[in-house]
Amino acid sequence: MNRTELESIARAMVAKGKGILAADESSGTIKKRFDSIQLESTEEARRTYREMLFTTPDAAKYISGVILYDETLRQKTKDGTPFSQYLTKLGVVPGIKVDMGAKPLAGFPNETITEGLDGLRERLAEYHKLGARFAKWRAVIDIAKDIPTQFAIDANAHALARYGALCQEANIVPIIEPEVLMDGDHSIERCEEVTSAVLKSVFEQLDSHRIHLEGMILKPNMVISGKKNTARAGRQQVAEATVRTLKRFVPSAVPGIAFLSGGQSAAEATEHLSLMNKIGNLPWELTFSYGRALQDEALKAWGGKPDQFAAGQKAFARRAKLNGDARNGSYTAASEQAA
Ligand code: 13P
Repeated sequence: MNRTELESIARAMVAKGKGILAADESSGTIKKRFDSIQLESTEEARRTYREMLFTTPDAAKYISGVILYDETLRQKTKDGTPFSQYLTKLGVVPGIKVDMGAKPLAGFPNETITEGLDGLRERLAEYHKLGARFAKWRAVIDIAKDIPTQFAIDANAHALARYGALCQEANIVPIIEPEVLMDGDHSIERCEEVTSAVLKSVFEQLDSHRIHLEGMILKPNMVISGKKNTARAGRQQVAEATVRTLKRFVPSAVPGIAFLSGGQSAAEATEHLSLMNKIGNLPWELTFSYGRALQDEALKAWGGKPDQFAAGQKAFARRAKLNGDARNGSYTAASEQAA
């Protein structure tokens, strides 16, 4: 493990004014996204869509890194440059999703464990050769009656730490992503309680597995009401609860925290991030690693139509800039109209 190299990659991923584009949708997930614009998910359609995002003029001003999927890491721009090379030249760090998805956890109804540790050392060596300098592994924790159990939390934290140690051994910065879902009707208080238990277990496991904290990035959910809750907490309350919870459980040695959007609207995710950065006095960089909240508007504007390629890029550049502004707390709801 080269600690200096890991630290400098991690710092670049959370550079001021920038954040990460999560474009690592698996084949099943990207099909769902394309279904929403009635586009068939062929390999060429997926390549074209990713090329649209990655070649957006000026996006690199606001995007520090891109999470790719296995297929995408092997694809090229239409003039033949591998995506990873193209991004690296722009100063954007290429990353790779390495988990194999959340599968039912035997003996624990309605809970999941993320798979993908077998053979991971060899896969990481290949990904490093292909240009990836960071990786992502997502653990999924659902909130409902009687779940999550402490066992499922600990099992997922253990897998995240094993993945993290293998990444650092390969000089790849691990994004540690424990996602507490916002799918239910739970309150923000319940989300805070579960997120606290998850972060506590994750950092205990990271410590036991001798993870070099300065060479990793945390990708958590925000502390937020469930989508089906009828009295959802306001944006300032989400910002305060999230910062409070992170301060309790995330060591200041971690260089940065990059949130997932988890089903929030684009404007909601941007405003939450801005409000948190406005609170200030934070021991780590607070940024974005959004998938849907960065891409939804661009996907819609493009619609799979060749003559809307530039319109898709414009929508992507606009949202990337707004999130760049949220990095220093200067985005407000009024910025939506101004942009
Ligand atoms: P969303 O921002 O759409 O939640 O995706 C982020 C991600 O990478 C999920 O693993």
